[in-house]
Amino acid sequence: MMTEEFTRLQDRKGRASLKWQRYEQQDVIPMWVADMDLPAPQAVREALGKAVELGALGYGEVPPRLVDAFLNWCQQQYGWQPMPEELVWLPGVVPGFNLAVEALTKADDQILVQTPVYPPIRVLGKLRQRAQQDLPLKPPSEGESQWSLQVEQLAAALEDKTSALVLCNPQNPTGRCYSPEELKELARLAAAKKLLVISDEIWADLLLKPEARHLPYPAVSNEAAQHSITLMAPSKTFNVAGLSCAVAIIPNPELREPFRKAMRGLMPDMNYMGILAAEAAWTKGAAWLQDLKQHLNNNLDLLEAWLQNPDHPRRQLIGYCRPEATFVAWLDVSRLELENPWQAFLDAGVALSPGEAFGDDHYLRLNFGCPAAQLEAALERMHQVIG
Ligand SMILES: Cc1ncc(COP(=O)(O)O)c(C=O)c1O
Repeated sequence: MMTEEFTRLQDRKGRASLKWQRYEQQDVIPMWVADMDLPAPQAVREALGKAVELGALGYGEVPPRLVDAFLNWCQQQYGWQPMPEELVWLPGVVPGFNLAVEALTKADDQILVQTPVYPPIRVLGKLRQRAQQDLPLKPPSEGESQWSLQVEQLAAALEDKTSALVLCNPQNPTGRCYSPEELKELARLAAAKKLLVISDEIWADLLLKPEARHLPYPAVSNEAAQHSITLMAPSKTFNVAGLSCAVAIIPNPELREPFRKAMRGLMPDMNYMGILAAEAAWTKGAAWLQDLKQHLNNNLDLLEAWLQNPDHPRRQLIGYCRPEATFVAWLDVSRLELENPWQAFLDAGVALSPGEAFGDDHYLRLNFGCPAAQLEAALERMHQVIG
């Protein structure tokens, strides 16, 4: 029943969707921004439908039920729970990391970011007027299957004025889910160098590799908890990104209080619909999420079969490693030797995300959170470009 819903093509034209509106007048399949062309869980739609039916759409306030729902979700998914007083509810993860830099670093501090990375993280220093050091993540070399965090290289690159590091785990766009060992090493470095770690874990629930486990940064060690702010949300997991709901976990009151203070008057409260959606998702969405992960893995199989099809050897020029998490694939298209790969695919009717925005123009990012038929149609069009 649920899985059947994942096969239905969504017509999102004319619905004020960021993903669809941009190319509405063209024959383009949007495979770019990270929301899914799949319906949110039935329980979420029911909770929202009931509110609409009642009609009053006034201010919301986070009820204790939502706190419990989130804590139980954390226990169930990561085997870890924050304390209720550590939570700060927010309208989004992006405002969360911007405010963290604003409130918890000084004007002459430097922040450290690893690239390629989600564009709002990549431009964070510039937006918040802080110096920013960009360090490359290490792509998989011969015999390796994944990108790596490279804590040693990070340690060597740190400068005196570096006071904060932005971690994205699971990582967008590479799909890497960092191992406990990598995170422990990072936490030791951060503790030794007194770094603030801003950990964006918006993708934490979307682990596709069966053995992958998400270790929340504050669960790495007590020290890690004390020097970090962690951002989570139901938005990617349950396709409710338009409802502006997220939560920061800030165990250390010396970080939490200035963060809260900086929010006043600037940060809107969580959206009323977002509160209702989050509660329904976290209390009733676990089985749906299992189905979703199966569906996303099937789409990845489909993408891999397409890339490796022996009848079309040029496709094998595309560099790819299977993401451990997320619903985006990071494709190295440099060996295709197209003048402007992003434009070439757009001209063929497929909108991908340009790698340049993430910090590497050899790549394009493909969002495979959609019905299989939509992915197949996009791949067919991409074939016209690649041959
Ligand atoms: C790593 C990462 N952080 C944050 C966001 C968006 O967060 P929000 O919509 O809660 O501001 C995204 C969306 O794609 C993302 O990939």
